[in-house]
Amino acid sequence: MRIGMIPQTVLEWFLSKMNVIPFPAEDTFVAMMQTRAIMAANRLGIFTSLAKGPASSAELARDLSCQIRGLEALLEAVKNAGYVVEQKGRYSLSPRARKWVTPDSSESVNWFIEFNYDNWERMGNLEESVKTGKSLDLHAQLLDITQWRRYLYGLHDLSRMAAKEIVLRRLVRSSPKLLLDIGGGHGGYSAAFCRAYPHLKSVIFDLPQAIEIGNEIIRKHYGDVTDRIEFKEGDITKDSWGTGYDVVLLMNVIHHFEPEQIRQIFGKIMGTINSGGVLLILDQLNNVNKSTSYLASMAELLFLVMTSGRSYRFDTVQDWLTEAGFKNIRLKNLRVGPGASVLAAEKS
Ligand SMILES: C[S@@+](CC[C@H](N)C(=O)[O-])C[C@H]1O[C@@H](n2cnc3c(N)ncnc32)[C@H](O)[C@@H]1O
Repeated sequence: MRIGMIPQTVLEWFLSKMNVIPFPAEDTFVAMMQTRAIMAANRLGIFTSLAKGPASSAELARDLSCQIRGLEALLEAVKNAGYVVEQKGRYSLSPRARKWVTPDSSESVNWFIEFNYDNWERMGNLEESVKTGKSLDLHAQLLDITQWRRYLYGLHDLSRMAAKEIVLRRLVRSSPKLLLDIGGGHGGYSAAFCRAYPHLKSVIFDLPQAIEIGNEIIRKHYGDVTDRIEFKEGDITKDSWGTGYDVVLLMNVIHHFEPEQIRQIFGKIMGTINSGGVLLILDQLNNVNKSTSYLASMAELLFLVMTSGRSYRFDTVQDWLTEAGFKNIRLKNLRVGPGASVLAAEKS
């Protein structure tokens, strides 16, 4: 999958094939306006308000304390982007919006949309990062707990669907007893595994601010498995995370680190995991297929600005795993998150 202008008529299709449409103008101006319209509708509460039922623009303006002119402009934009439907002057949510952006939906990604306000700001450093090769240090710079909250609640939104699929794929064969979730932050993956394996306990290893938010999320969303999840504070590159694990998760973590650090992390996992144990790595890996390469190349720009890592090639990660001694390395592409892949590797 990819983002792009989609012709609506045969003539537009023909003109796009003839290369007479100024795609660079559309790809920048229109894409930017659509992105910002969806973010604003989310932040201003349009989706939340319409989740209660259809409303006219005047009713919405009153409910959300907005001026009618701006609100109608925003409604028109999100209507044309497919998020809102208008019938006889009343607005309601499209099925896409109802499922993905209303706070009451279990699949809502509205925190992730909020997190993109921070990414919007950060991407202002892209040209500087490309020129100088310097990155902001994401985890040192996110000092503000509000930003940590948007970051981890946002990733938690994405984890809910990915975790379900990863668990269903049965990449873990036996009945594991102890799981280590390195950089597990919000705890969504640990909770999904604990729900799937009734005797499983999980240790989430992360930075202190992430643990503060992770604790909050676990208590709020996963009361049924709270007593089987433990948080352990530390730095991946420096601290020990114990031994005796049957499963180790590295979900969206390797893209924060440099190749040498990743090789060290893989070596350290080898010393921590039981024989027959499984390491699962989730990331936007390059070089798997067209969708993963597209997403990985876009995500890489954020990694470039924010961290010293990158979207690594699948074969590179596979080589590092082999070098660390892992066997039976398998790759699965996620259906719910086109562009994300899971690598499973075993310690024999
Ligand atoms: C992109 S998030 C991934 C969160 C979760 N695993 C997921 O897939 O949604 C990266 C996580 O790694 C943690 N992290 C980054 N650098 C770390 C370090 N040096 N030591 C411990 N945790 C770290 C972050 O705090 C964050 O929770």
